[in-house]
Amino acid sequence: MRLIGRIADGATDTSATAVLLKDMESEVSSESLVLIENGGEGGKIGKVVGVLRRGLGRNELLNLSRYRPDIAYMKYGGEPSSSREVFSFQISLIGEVEEREGAIRIRPNRKIIAPRSPVYLFDDDENPLERYIAPSAKQLEWLDAHLDGHPTWRVPADKFYVPYHVGVFGATGTGKSWFTRYVLIPFYIRCGLRVLVLDWSGSDYVPYYEDVVPISEVAQDEISILKYLSGITDKFAGNASMQDVFDQLVCSWHDLLNRVHTCDELYEEIQRYIRQYIDQVDKRWRSNAERASDRIFRKLKPITSARSWEQEESPLC
Ligand SMILES: Nc1ncnc2c1ncn2[C@@H]1O[C@H](COP(=O)(O)OP(=O)(O)O)[C@@H](O)[C@H]1O
Ligand SMILES: [Mg+2]
Repeated sequence: MRLIGRIADGATDTSATAVLLKDMESEVSSESLVLIENGGEGGKIGKVVGVLRRGLGRNELLNLSRYRPDIAYMKYGGEPSSSREVFSFQISLIGEVEEREGAIRIRPNRKIIAPRSPVYLFDDDENPLERYIAPSAKQLEWLDAHLDGHPTWRVPADKFYVPYHVGVFGATGTGKSWFTRYVLIPFYIRCGLRVLVLDWSGSDYVPYYEDVVPISEVAQDEISILKYLSGITDKFAGNASMQDVFDQLVCSWHDLLNRVHTCDELYEEIQRYIRQYIDQVDKRWRSNAERASDRIFRKLKPITSARSWEQEESPLC
């Protein structure tokens, strides 16, 4: 580990600022992981892992709130003094390192970070993700991704939280879609989940997958439902009267869905409706209608069994 600076005035239990040692500003960059030995060398109060965010360069001599000799000198082409120049980085704290019975894990930091505490940068061969973050996972998995600038630092993920809600946030062009497409979705699939992607623009995901269903095909208006049923039953077994009956049934489709709770119940309701129709068909044509009905229900089957609509909902929604 390399000492890069010390904690400045005003640190709290959730954030701190590191003043960089001389010339470190050219070596240290944001998003780097650091270790703070809270309370001084060795970490008398504890050891805290954090990430550098938002660097700041200050030079009191170039402060714009008052006119200063250095500013005047600079205006005429001179180079102002760097004697009062300070570079710093804010540190977002990830957590305190807890070492218990030889096991290391990270837990939320609740102690104030002491000003003057030394801040260290991890060397490439001291992978903090493997040493501190990974052992804290309940069900450890690894993303197919590494930390920027450290190809050997693969990013750990906790499989336990996979069914929880996940949001990917960032300004336009920061890689949200890329991350979701190449890291998140493959990770979910590796964890045994099936992934349904809704791509409203049709540009982020559609070009990269073969199994694409246009949104118009999952529309739930009456005509789309009738078309769908017609498609899977060979145009209602080629029977115009049956098409008519299904047309009537589809007119009250949404009421029907409110009455039933499972796919099987829906299937039974459809069968009952068709049976009622067949029972009142003229005897001369009844066997004809029955044959068409048999053919239709040989093609039309409930997909799931005995599961309610509520259970069908993905935990990722
Ligand atoms: N980790 C990455 N490695 C390489 N290229 C990337 C990475 N993340 C994003 N990009 C590229 O940056 C551009 C913007 O990414 P994109 O995912 O479309 O951003 P967003 O969805 O946040 O607007 C794309 O051209 C993408 O290929
Ligand atoms: Mg995008």
